[in-house]
Amino acid sequence: MTAPAHARTVSFPAIDQRTLRDAFGAFPSGVVAVAASVKGQLTGIAASSFTSVSIDPPLVSFSISTTSSTWPLLREADHLGISVLADHHDAVCRQLAGPREERFAGLPFVVTGTGAVLLDEAVATYDCSLHEEVVAGDHVIVLLEVHQVGGGDGEHPLVFHRSAFAKLHRDDLDHARLDGRINGAEVDRGDRESGSSDAEDAA
Ligand SMILES: Cc1cc2nc3c(=O)[nH]c(=O)nc-3n(C[C@H](O)[C@H](O)[C@H](O)COP(=O)(O)O)c2cc1C
Repeated sequence: MTAPAHARTVSFPAIDQRTLRDAFGAFPSGVVAVAASVKGQLTGIAASSFTSVSIDPPLVSFSISTTSSTWPLLREADHLGISVLADHHDAVCRQLAGPREERFAGLPFVVTGTGAVLLDEAVATYDCSLHEEVVAGDHVIVLLEVHQVGGGDGEHPLVFHRSAFAKLHRDDLDHARLDGRINGAEVDRGDRESGSSDAEDAA
């Protein structure tokens, strides 16, 4: 589509990195541990760039800096574990982002038969394998195929917002959840634990 004749071309000054980081930080996210046992070596990072991508096939993604010293090792893993951190995992998150040799010190976790490392008390866990890597500027978008999911033990997720950790409690949530379809996408009511049917809820 061509721009209408009256449209003006606006050129923007280059965005300085601080401003851009602040704008990115305005978007709240959860935090995950991406971890595996690679050739017997516990390897992992904390990542707030995790997101769900596709239901069929089941895909998730996170972005990793091209300067990461861990990704070249972690990408060699047969399977990678994703653990959605719980709200008491703030110190764990810092540890997983800290010096490499101390990242798993004292942490309770399991190594699955596939070599994925999953943290205890995570809100949810995924056992994944590498699907595709897409270089995107100074990061690589890592697409992972999901083979297994776990409910995890932790109830409340850790939230990362404006470079700080926050907590989210179910009591804060609006109970009038999105339902049905939005722009053709199925919206999950997420109330399986109540065991009630849609018809009961609508009543
Ligand atoms: C809350 C939080 C979120 C992070 N998210 C990411 C991320 O999404 N992508 C990334 O490359 N690094 C992220 N990091 C940094 C990594 O955890 C790690 O510190 C970084 O990759 C440097 O270590 P490495 O050289 O061993 O990879 C995050 C750190 C913290 C504390």
